[in-house]
Amino acid sequence: MRTHTCGQVDQALLDQEIELVGWVNRRRDHGGVIFVDLRDRDGLVQVVFDPDDPEMFAVAETLRNEFVIQVRGRVRNRPEGTENPNIRSGQIEVLGLSLTVLNRAEPLPFQLDDERVSEDVRLRYRYLDLRRPEMLERLRLRHRVTSAMRRFLDDAGFIDVETPVLTKATPEGARDYLVPSRTHPGEFFALPQSPQLFKQLLMVSGLERYYQIVKCFRDEDLRADRQPEFTQLDLEMSFADEATVMGLIENMMRHLFIEAVEVALPDPLPRLTWHEAMRRFGSDKPDLRIPLELVDVADLVKDVDFKVFSGPANDPRGRVAALHVPGGGKMPRSQIDDYTKYVSIFGAKGLAYIKVNDAAAGREGLQSPILKFLTDEAVAGIMERTNAADGDLIFFGADKAKIVNEALGALRVRLGHDLDMVEHGYQALWVVDFPMFEYDEKDGRHYALHHPFTAPHPDDVDQLESDPENVRSRAYDFVLNGYELGGGSVRIHDPALQQRVFTQLGIDENEANDKFGFLLDALKYGAPPMAGVAFGLDRIAMLMSGATSIRDVIAFPKTQSAACLLTDAPGEIDPAALRELSIRVRLPPKESKEDKG
Ligand code: AMO
Ligand code: AMP
Repeated sequence: MRTHTCGQVDQALLDQEIELVGWVNRRRDHGGVIFVDLRDRDGLVQVVFDPDDPEMFAVAETLRNEFVIQVRGRVRNRPEGTENPNIRSGQIEVLGLSLTVLNRAEPLPFQLDDERVSEDVRLRYRYLDLRRPEMLERLRLRHRVTSAMRRFLDDAGFIDVETPVLTKATPEGARDYLVPSRTHPGEFFALPQSPQLFKQLLMVSGLERYYQIVKCFRDEDLRADRQPEFTQLDLEMSFADEATVMGLIENMMRHLFIEAVEVALPDPLPRLTWHEAMRRFGSDKPDLRIPLELVDVADLVKDVDFKVFSGPANDPRGRVAALHVPGGGKMPRSQIDDYTKYVSIFGAKGLAYIKVNDAAAGREGLQSPILKFLTDEAVAGIMERTNAADGDLIFFGADKAKIVNEALGALRVRLGHDLDMVEHGYQALWVVDFPMFEYDEKDGRHYALHHPFTAPHPDDVDQLESDPENVRSRAYDFVLNGYELGGGSVRIHDPALQQRVFTQLGIDENEANDKFGFLLDALKYGAPPMAGVAFGLDRIAMLMSGATSIRDVIAFPKTQSAACLLTDAPGEIDPAALRELSIRVRLPPKESKEDKG
């Protein structure tokens, strides 16, 4: 139907007759001449219809935005002064010689380039939203990433294997999406939160190097970087340890960033232990583009007459930390109140601060609601340790370490953005030496920080029962600009050790057999040492494209409340179909479809 795409037309085609197809991006009438910006996925070109051919001109007059047309025309230079340097075809235009309307379009529900249109409207008409060149470019970028991944892994000897979608629960820490079984009334499949167990089984099978670009499903609270169904690059290697996997992945990520966005990541990537990341940044996925750090001051305030500080300073699970903000002294009270409200989201009970007016003047040069509670030594110690200078501000968090880390960690990122301190570019790193377990104060038990199949650090195995909270795991996370892009670990390949870890997690032998019996069995039949990793493809594409939500790099994403506005899924099911599944629906009072959006 065409000889060229719109994006291919440039001065090289001068005076040639060509055929184009595409959408009417815009139509303008200019005193007897009609201009059409014709758009296809490659770009835009200007087509001119003049009234010399009355029949064709009459058709051109009927054109509206988003009509689909076919044009035959001759390429010519644009009149001087009307060139458009922003597009490839900006020097030329196509004089229409014939015009066919392939399809008409009703006026669109929104203008494609109108930035005020709400995301809900865009999602409802996603097929139109994707016509925007920006969206198309994101899908293309994502495609470049997956093809580069596949080429890289194929070359490294990986075998792409598909694993089941209708399966049994895999514990990655979220709720499962369930699918009722018709043939086994009252029983359910779970959609995989990841292919974790299957990839370990494939190693037992002797595949040695597996990968898959695969959908995973997690029913969890959604955020800008979380979708209920998302895509992982999942891989696993036999006879491999953390060095093998991390080495391979570093090379792959450097390759991807060069191929997809021409960015060179450092070689080697920096590494932080989990403890150091928490201590300095209050986060296990620190955004290293932000030049602010937390410092511990518990030892300085252990004996002060201020319970808010001395309490956590003397609590083994407590933390008192300071966050020094250069130039923050200008901050008005209202903004500090704002930040105080912000940290309360993370459970912080307050946000103490000291403004430094004149550091040389000692206590007199400082301004703070907590100054009266602090000894001279404490004040001097804080000033020295934070390196605070005139015009600076110091924030404080004091509570259980988990709360302080979450609150000051988030505040650090927020300040970085508010004060325009975020450096440009990409800052990637590995976080290693995670603790095996996280203690949950509420239910008084341990959870796996990674997942229950992660191997403990060999030096710490003996403490599994006696001191579980200080056992390190062999897990590693790949972090970029404050996002966890990927995570993996060396696996347990010894059934006895696997059961010891289950026991620490409160999973006894019966429950373990019931849930993961197939894995425990498989580990008995010659399981090789193995390690692997999984990356969030959506997150990689989001960061590479500069989008702020993974919804922008997914063709048909779900909303915050896990609904699809385009298809109106999830939807009610015909009672007959439910009967067939032996399911009766009992809604809690007042639940309605209205809340979906
Ligand atoms: P993990 O649970 O860390 O590890 O997941 C790996 C990566 O998947 C991405 N991710 C998500 N992306 C979008 N929306 C979500 N809801 C979502 N949840 C996770 C993240 C994350 O780093 N089986 C293990 C991997 C392994 O041990 O090999 C696993 O799934 O980018
Ligand atoms: P109060 O004595 O409760 O008025 O608190 C004095 C100052 O300490 C205020 O600036 C509070 O915001 C701050 N503050 C209270 N609790 C905490 C806490 N857990 N961590 C940090 N600052 C706090």
